[in-house]
Amino acid sequence: MIKRGITYDYHGVLSDFIGKEHGLSRDEIISYQSRVNAGHQRLVGERKRGGIGFFELPYREAEAREIKEKAQEIRQGIENCLVLGIGGSSLGGKALRDAIKTPLYNLMPRKMREGTPHLFFAENIDPETISRLLEMLPMEKTLVVVISKSGGTAETMSQFLILYERLKRELGRELSRHLVAITDPEKGALREIARADSLISFDIPGNVGGRFSVLTPVGLFPAALIGIDIETLLEGARAMAGRCDLPDLKSNIAYLNGVIHYHYDMKRGKPLFVLMPYADSLLSLADWCRQLYAESLGKRFDREGREVFCGPTPIRALGTTDQHSQLQLYIEGPFDKVITFLRVEALRGDAEIPNPFSSDNSLSYLANHSLGQLFGFEQRATAHALVENHRPVLTVGVPEINEYTLGQLFYFYELQVAMMGELYGIDAFNQPGVERGKVLTYGLMGRKGYEKYVKEME
Ligand code: PA5
Repeated sequence: MIKRGITYDYHGVLSDFIGKEHGLSRDEIISYQSRVNAGHQRLVGERKRGGIGFFELPYREAEAREIKEKAQEIRQGIENCLVLGIGGSSLGGKALRDAIKTPLYNLMPRKMREGTPHLFFAENIDPETISRLLEMLPMEKTLVVVISKSGGTAETMSQFLILYERLKRELGRELSRHLVAITDPEKGALREIARADSLISFDIPGNVGGRFSVLTPVGLFPAALIGIDIETLLEGARAMAGRCDLPDLKSNIAYLNGVIHYHYDMKRGKPLFVLMPYADSLLSLADWCRQLYAESLGKRFDREGREVFCGPTPIRALGTTDQHSQLQLYIEGPFDKVITFLRVEALRGDAEIPNPFSSDNSLSYLANHSLGQLFGFEQRATAHALVENHRPVLTVGVPEINEYTLGQLFYFYELQVAMMGELYGIDAFNQPGVERGKVLTYGLMGRKGYEKYVKEME
């Protein structure tokens, strides 16, 4: 495993490279230092008061060891794990599975999976998908992991009720060996059921919200079930925390990334942030990141209660696939985007392109290269085309996709978003819009105590 720090290259946003109209000067960036210092102080204060929990997660090594042991024990005889959860209770685990094990994981034969079970994330409540899953998964070989911080989200809990009933009907008292609950330590319906049924359960710390919870059991337990090294994941996050300990924009790449994005959104009319990994395995990480940006920064009110209606729109794209879908828009369309490439330096596999034909033809230029080379050249060519068209480009370099670099990436983006919340002056850790949708749904479904929301809608 390559244990090196991720790199951050912001040359592609500097006016020397993309021109003054769309580029930034170093002075412009550094002029944010005092605001960043103030934001940092506030975050440190909140952390000390116990208000923001994600800062502490990389240091919970003992918990990670316990999770690993429990996962190894419980997966004996299990062929399929089904995670019930949505949003922050699902995206982190999925990002981990796809990054470390590749998106092909569930198609791999058991030997390639080193004996670890399949790992499915139900997420949506589309009845077609859920009924197929129920047909596919024999309960006696399935572990159901239900994840909900609130313990009440309609999507997750309706799936839970269906699976609980199925497990009980088919396995009787064996049920408790096939069900794990991950939820708030004290509150919510799921915690009550876990207590009443003595289910195996893990806590999500009260001060950690869904989208910041990937380094709690929410992400760690499903990851450990499929043999991901969660201790090294935390080690990577600790490395990033150490690297970004001080607010200095010359060393703190998370804050620097936050300042550049904030400035483009608020001062340069570029509210669309594209995250474009050149790696299939990192596409789910881009999904995770999209939620982190959107739910944290899309806010109506600032912390003083003034209406601000702020927040960038995150977009995810995949290199090279989306070069043939969205890139034309990025290169020649409106000047409203900031594009970040996630570039992997050492790929975990490669294939040589052969020349099976004896005579030269128009494909001969491809031969004697590897797919990895082609991948790298395509990314370079795309970056160049963007920069020569005065489009801001950032590059996050990932030495290799592994637990150590993933841990860094999760923490890097969480810290960036926390700082952006400070710059916008909003609370990056709540989600009143999402909560509103949830209570309206409860009302429509006839939940007791929520009748008034139906009246409001009428
Ligand atoms: O980030 C968040 O807070 C949300 O996306 C939640 O994770 C999502 O709504 C699911 O909530 P819960 O974990 O309470 O079921």
